Amino acid sequence: MEKILIVDDERNVHYSFRRVFGNEYEVISAFSGAEALEKATDETLRLVLMDVRMPGRDGLDTLHALKQLRPELPVIIMTAFASAETAIRATTLDAEDYVVKPVDVDSLKRLIATVLRRRAPQPAPAELPVVALDNSAVPILGHSRVMQEVYKIIGKSAARDVTVLITGESGTGKELVARALHTYSRRDKGPFLAINCAAIPETLLESELFGYERGAFSGATEAHPGKFELAHGGTLFLDEIGDMPPMLQSKLLRVLQERELYRLGAREPRRVDVRIIAATNQDLESLIRSGRFREDLYYRLNVVRIVLPPLREREQDVLLLAEHFLRLHRRSDAQGPQGFTDDAKRKLLEYSWPGNVRELENVIAAAVLHARGRLITAEDLVLTEVSLRPAEAAATSPPPAGTTLESLFAQHAGNVFATTERLLIAMALDLSRCNQVQAARLLGISRNVLRDRMKRYGL
Ligand SMILES: Nc1ncnc2c1ncn2[C@@H]1O[C@H](COP(=O)(O)OP(=O)(O)OP(=O)(O)O)[C@@H](O)[C@H]1O
Ligand SMILES: [Mg+2]
Repeated sequence: MEKILIVDDERNVHYSFRRVFGNEYEVISAFSGAEALEKATDETLRLVLMDVRMPGRDGLDTLHALKQLRPELPVIIMTAFASAETAIRATTLDAEDYVVKPVDVDSLKRLIATVLRRRAPQPAPAELPVVALDNSAVPILGHSRVMQEVYKIIGKSAARDVTVLITGESGTGKELVARALHTYSRRDKGPFLAINCAAIPETLLESELFGYERGAFSGATEAHPGKFELAHGGTLFLDEIGDMPPMLQSKLLRVLQERELYRLGAREPRRVDVRIIAATNQDLESLIRSGRFREDLYYRLNVVRIVLPPLREREQDVLLLAEHFLRLHRRSDAQGPQGFTDDAKRKLLEYSWPGNVRELENVIAAAVLHARGRLITAEDLVLTEVSLRPAEAAATSPPPAGTTLESLFAQHAGNVFATTERLLIAMALDLSRCNQVQAARLLGISRNVLRDRMKRYGL
């Protein structure tokens, strides 16, 4: 357990902090500044949480002395009122952070965890660098070899101003990688703008990207810069590039070649300094073959290619990501599940994850709502697609001779319905904090039906 020091002159403060943090940390106490300085000589001490208003030696003086003694020791300051002066002085004295009493326990817990993580001694480099891009700005997780390769390409291409094409199935993290490329580039102070080429109708997409001059079309009462101009000095992320209409493909190609563009209705070109990152989950090579994507544009975009592997090819990362999403979606009351049963882990590993990381996140978020115990069980994990792993594939196909579609449907539709029904009921109970009248109303069923289903599903 990591050791933290609480400095406060009020006994009840120590009492409540011990109750709140006692399970996670070894809590030691000091009741004055002098005592704090004495205890801070303990080399194993990891963090100090200190009230600034104490009789005798003032908290800020103590902070100053502490920082001289142990410059690397993080100190979080607490105060009864938010005074700009104290905050500013505490910051110039290198306090880690500053919280106002009465403190919100959950956010303080998070703060302490973050500070400790940041200060944690770097583990000795193993064969694989552990979580290569665990920067809080861009939390891309994954230890697998394939992701290690992705990190390397990001690292190598981020700072060079090259155009990058990111491909991968839906939900594999393409947008996350695009953001990482921006964050680690020299353009990180500039804007990062994203536009989804599949979600916007062609004419609108054109004016969104290139902007327009006043009077360019009816309704254009004022000139308007497009995303290219707005992203000047930064990065423009063209998502779902495979869906870009042919006319716009030509215009985009021109921008990439000339580094200038014409707003709709403009006579003069404008220069733009934008780095382009494009992404798609389609097979651009086959779109080229069928004449739906320009080959010359493809070569312009595909200067550096990052291929994100589907989740089923990085089994190693599944549990890591699952734990991450569990922490992310855990209920704030700390009552929620803390981990997974072995069966649940097996189920996560055996599944084929057609929706990749996004699907995993959704499944974990639902399971957190669903779970009743300290651990998420296999039952709590509602997987929507039939797994196509060999064992199960053998069980489902080929169907025994004489199987009709009707009989297959009858057999499986019941499961789908029951699973969904159980999930919805569990969620409604959760949302209504187990108030059955309210839950029944949410679900649009009577209270009697609700009771019956709760019994049936063991809720
Ligand atoms: N390696 C990862 N570590 C942590 N979170 C991830 C990782 N990969 C993806 N995610 C999360 O999964 C979700 C989906 O990722 P993202 O939106 O980047 O996928 P995408 O490839 O752009 O999907 P789509 O093709 O559907 O747009 C996001 O919430 C993202 O934060
Ligand atoms: Mg995306």
